[in-house]
Amino acid sequence: MSEILIIGGGIIGLSIARSLRKLGVKKITILERGKLGEEASFAAAGMLAVQAETNKNDAFFNFCNESRNLFPKFADELLAETGIDVELETSGTLCLSFSETDSIELNKRFKWQSAIGLKIEKLTSTEIRKMEPFVSPNVFEGLFFENDWQVENRKLLAALKHFAENNNIEVFENEEVIAVLNEKNRVTGVETKNQNFFADKVIFATGAWTSFIKTVGFKLPEVKPIRGQMMSLKTAKRLFTRVICSPRGYIVPRRDGRILAGATVEDVGFDKNTTLEGFEFVFGNTIEIAPSLANLGITEKWSGLRPFFADGLPLLGKVPNIENLLIATAHFRNGILLAPKTAEIIAKQAVNNIETEYEKDFGFLRLQKNAI
Ligand code: GLY
Repeated sequence: MSEILIIGGGIIGLSIARSLRKLGVKKITILERGKLGEEASFAAAGMLAVQAETNKNDAFFNFCNESRNLFPKFADELLAETGIDVELETSGTLCLSFSETDSIELNKRFKWQSAIGLKIEKLTSTEIRKMEPFVSPNVFEGLFFENDWQVENRKLLAALKHFAENNNIEVFENEEVIAVLNEKNRVTGVETKNQNFFADKVIFATGAWTSFIKTVGFKLPEVKPIRGQMMSLKTAKRLFTRVICSPRGYIVPRRDGRILAGATVEDVGFDKNTTLEGFEFVFGNTIEIAPSLANLGITEKWSGLRPFFADGLPLLGKVPNIENLLIATAHFRNGILLAPKTAEIIAKQAVNNIETEYEKDFGFLRLQKNAI
């Protein structure tokens, strides 16, 4: 019997396990339906795009901001704990405009973000090409977000897996949960395809697969997969310093010379194929940003399933009327960015049994309030 059973071994589940251990929880078990960290967290690009991807100053923006601010400590601690450098890069993000329409969007963002005192800079095409000489000469103008960073998400997963191994966190892979076991309003554990697991408390970090799990006497909101197709290109030496995006796509330069390019946003169910149409979309947006990339070799094409809930926001916290079940899912485009803050609040909530201040905006209460 575990003190805490975590369902899902992606970035969210692994980060929660680490935070629980740091709060002194002794018996933690993770059940993963496949292999640890091989779904959306592995497929991600590791962009910590707080300012480049949010559209207003609201609770979600603040949540993203707070989580991004945890990354320097998260990365330093993981290095000390595991010896793995997760390659946090704080060189910033450029957002480019290639048309009058793009510039309208960029200017809206510049307006609300500069009005609240965020670090944001407007750049001319000449300034942009001085910073990043391989950017297309067709660029109109752009914004520079000094505080939008990147992390090597696959190394982050490796570090978290290492932490779990070193800290006696029990992991069961290929253990697909099919149902929650409960006695009235108290969860006792879960049933997998192979066996039952019992625990004092259960945390769902189940990503896009949340709605596969049967519940009796209560319902979980429906989370659905949104596919993102990506590819990577190889350069002999690093051509870009910063993450670069347009309103249609992005490129993320890695230290080893790879350039990740993404991504489609497709509502196609649990289909992880990469398609010609998806590839053409990503390729077109990539060469719009930097035409010279057209001749590089493609090293990898892949896709991942982002967990999406109806209002586009994460689902965090206590499941109503169930004493000991917490959920942390639906991070959609921001699973990597939101991992450290999610882990902090869910672990605290699991250990101290209190509601967090985030419950109001990202918990189940909003579902009733907004009739979702
Ligand atoms: N955060 C980037 C993406 O989901 O494509």
